[in-house]
Amino acid sequence: MSTAISPTAYNYKVVRQFAIMTVVWGILGMGLGVFIASQLVWPELNFGLPWTTFGRLRPLHTNLVIFAFGGCALFATSYYVVQRTCQTRLISDSLAAFHFWGWQAVIIGAIVTLPLGYTTTKEYAELEWPLAILMAIVWVVYGLVFFGTIVKRKTKHIYVGNWFYGAFIVVTAMLHIVNHMSLPVSLFKSYSAYAGATDAMIQWWYGHNAVGFFLTTGFLGMMYYFVPKQAERPIYSYRLSIVHFWALITLYIWAGPHHLHYTALPDWAQSLGMAMSIILLAPSWGGMINGMMTLSGAWHKLRTDPILRFLVVSLAFYGMSTFEGPMMAIKTVNSLSHYTDWTIGHVHAGALGWVAMISIGAIYHMIPKLFGRAQMHSIGLINTHFWLATIGTVLYIASMWVNGITQGLMWRAINDDGTLTYSFVEALQASHPGYIVRALGGAFFASGMLFMAYNVWRTVRASNPAEAKAAEQIAVVGAH
Ligand code: HEM
Ligand code: HEM
Repeated sequence: MSTAISPTAYNYKVVRQFAIMTVVWGILGMGLGVFIASQLVWPELNFGLPWTTFGRLRPLHTNLVIFAFGGCALFATSYYVVQRTCQTRLISDSLAAFHFWGWQAVIIGAIVTLPLGYTTTKEYAELEWPLAILMAIVWVVYGLVFFGTIVKRKTKHIYVGNWFYGAFIVVTAMLHIVNHMSLPVSLFKSYSAYAGATDAMIQWWYGHNAVGFFLTTGFLGMMYYFVPKQAERPIYSYRLSIVHFWALITLYIWAGPHHLHYTALPDWAQSLGMAMSIILLAPSWGGMINGMMTLSGAWHKLRTDPILRFLVVSLAFYGMSTFEGPMMAIKTVNSLSHYTDWTIGHVHAGALGWVAMISIGAIYHMIPKLFGRAQMHSIGLINTHFWLATIGTVLYIASMWVNGITQGLMWRAINDDGTLTYSFVEALQASHPGYIVRALGGAFFASGMLFMAYNVWRTVRASNPAEAKAAEQIAVVGAH
């Protein structure tokens, strides 16, 4: 098959911008994670100032890691993947630029308003209405660029990775708009349009699907492109990927009530959420197996390729957290795990092990290609990063399991006369060693990101503008 060069080139500028900002926000968001983890070890670090307290910095951490780090990784990769698999340039450079700068403005808005205490108080949807509206506008523009590019594609087929990215874009827009319906009373204060149990249900329908579509479906789009590319093998089963897609998006949307077990939510809704969460194990593992089996015949590459290791280990953590999640959704298990650090461990098995690791692997894959280099400046440093990330994740989640189960058991222990065996403070004291280990694990993970930043900087600095420009050319025939 011969390869011709098309007269138009890919828009790699916006991909480069989002890729670099993924690293920058990753360092800030995870650095802040280490800081709030340290506050739980040494409360003096709250400094007695309102804007540096754990309560205000914690939502800033979640916004930075999810929307800034995770978001930029999803935007960079989706724009890269959609152009290459559709063999065409993005439909509009100016809309793509608006997307980039608009999103950075939302993040800066979060950095300013959250420490000042402006918040809707809804988890993962804390930003007050002016920023929420800006976010919605930027998101619609993103959707226009992404789907517009699919419409003008040069290929017949829409590669499955784009289906996952597409579902992530459509469902996130729906969740964000419905959950943010509110009545503004001043520039930075609004009241939710919903009340009581309805408000809680809408919030966790949003919250759970933020996990399902922002932190999972989009990253599965990433998985379906970067795992086969890095392993240089076709995806294990295309048929399984289609079943995986439809089963995942059909089931996820029903599982939200597992966040509201034993609350004022009707019992049937809680049971429905539990049942749907258990069924969700099947498509989740279907996807994981599809990714893992893509390595059939290429397992030996793991010995020499740390980028592939990042991608494969991320799938292992994805499998682990999607096994743990359905277990925690069982009401009797949840009665022990809820309110404890077990939930925090589960979150970070998904967030560090899956979301961050697959993003890091994808960025390492893309950076040399975006800047016209053969490979990253140092493969050894990628390897160092890999071990820091893996050990950091294991320390984080193992300490939170121990803490979570300890807390759950201590809180429910009862003496013969019916009084509580332990006071809350005793359970807190028992958690202290776990908090130290978690902060250490987080520091491992975050320091790996510094190695990444150095490696990326050296790769970008060595890039020659002419080679970087040449890398943007669309090879019309051949592999995408
Ligand atoms: C160096 C890495 C990280 C450290 C040290 C860290 C630390 C923390 C800490 C201390 C909390 C508060 C826990 C509590 O309230 O008891 C937290 C919450 C959270 N973090 Fe991280 N984090 C890190 C990376 C990430 C990443 C990369 C993501 C997402 C992609 C993430 C997502 C979250 C979420 C969603 C919560 C809220 C969990 C909940 O409410 O149940 N974190 N993190
Ligand atoms: C089949 C897949 C999954 C199921 C059924 C599931 C289920 C659950 C359950 C039951 C909880 C605890 C709710 C509570 O007691 O309050 C939870 C919390 C959470 N999970 Fe999962 N999980 C899954 C996968 C994941 C993945 C892959 C991630 C991350 C990428 C993730 C992120 C979270 C977060 C952020 C929370 C904390 C929400 C909060 O309270 O702030 N989950 N999940």
